[in-house]
Amino acid sequence: PAMKIAFGLEDLEKQVAEVLNVEKVIVVSGDSDEYSWVKKELGRACVQQMKKQIAPGDIIAVAGGTTLAAVADMVSPSEKWKDAVFVPARGGLGEKVEIQSNTISSTMATKARAAYRLLHVPDQLSNETRTSLSLEPGIKELLALIRKAKIVIHGIGEAEIMADRRETSDGAVQQIKEKAAVGEAFGYYFDREGHIVHKERTIGLQLNDLNEAQTVITVAGGSSKAEAISAYMKYRPSNLLITDEGAAKAILNR
Ligand code: F6P
Repeated sequence: PAMKIAFGLEDLEKQVAEVLNVEKVIVVSGDSDEYSWVKKELGRACVQQMKKQIAPGDIIAVAGGTTLAAVADMVSPSEKWKDAVFVPARGGLGEKVEIQSNTISSTMATKARAAYRLLHVPDQLSNETRTSLSLEPGIKELLALIRKAKIVIHGIGEAEIMADRRETSDGAVQQIKEKAAVGEAFGYYFDREGHIVHKERTIGLQLNDLNEAQTVITVAGGSSKAEAISAYMKYRPSNLLITDEGAAKAILNR
């Protein structure tokens, strides 16, 4: 489209895709660090893509965060969502209710007039509790649904900001700092090379559950997230990255 060429966004998309080794990149104009409307545009672009990818009956797993909340805001009813089921990707990660994956998944489903399932598990579980909860029939069934998700949509955050935003234990914060984590996604913290250096204890989707058959959509923008996005993509390049000009330019100038 004319707008994109005028801003050179298509060039940015190609270059970022190459640098990050991501199949497809969509760049919206602006920098969400500077203007909040840019995050809304990320949301709009994501919903457009979701509508393209989804087939009737698909299970869609969604993560939490303010960017995913912006995606949820943009969802509207469509034939495309028919029989879709929205599920949260992982259990509580210490976020505020409004931006928890349970809330986002139910908001999306309600706006899409689709179905949703909630995952009722507390944040920060001990190993023992996590194991026994995973065996509860209701939870077990939901975990199986999450693993069957056709589309997984998630955000990425800066490591220290995420550790701060959650009630992360002092021990974990120290580990995140010592091991120089720069990015976070799904409760996993990554260093610059894309190695996992810390993982929150909650049930649900584990990163090594992700398989080739799934479409993983990452939505993350703002120049401040450039390092975090690059780190995560080194771990596992997504099928689709939806980002903004601010992050795209910062990724290329690293
Ligand atoms: O805590 C959920 C989560 O999806 C994190 O995995 C991610 O780092 C963060 O939210 C992104 O949040 P925001 O979109 O607000 O930057």
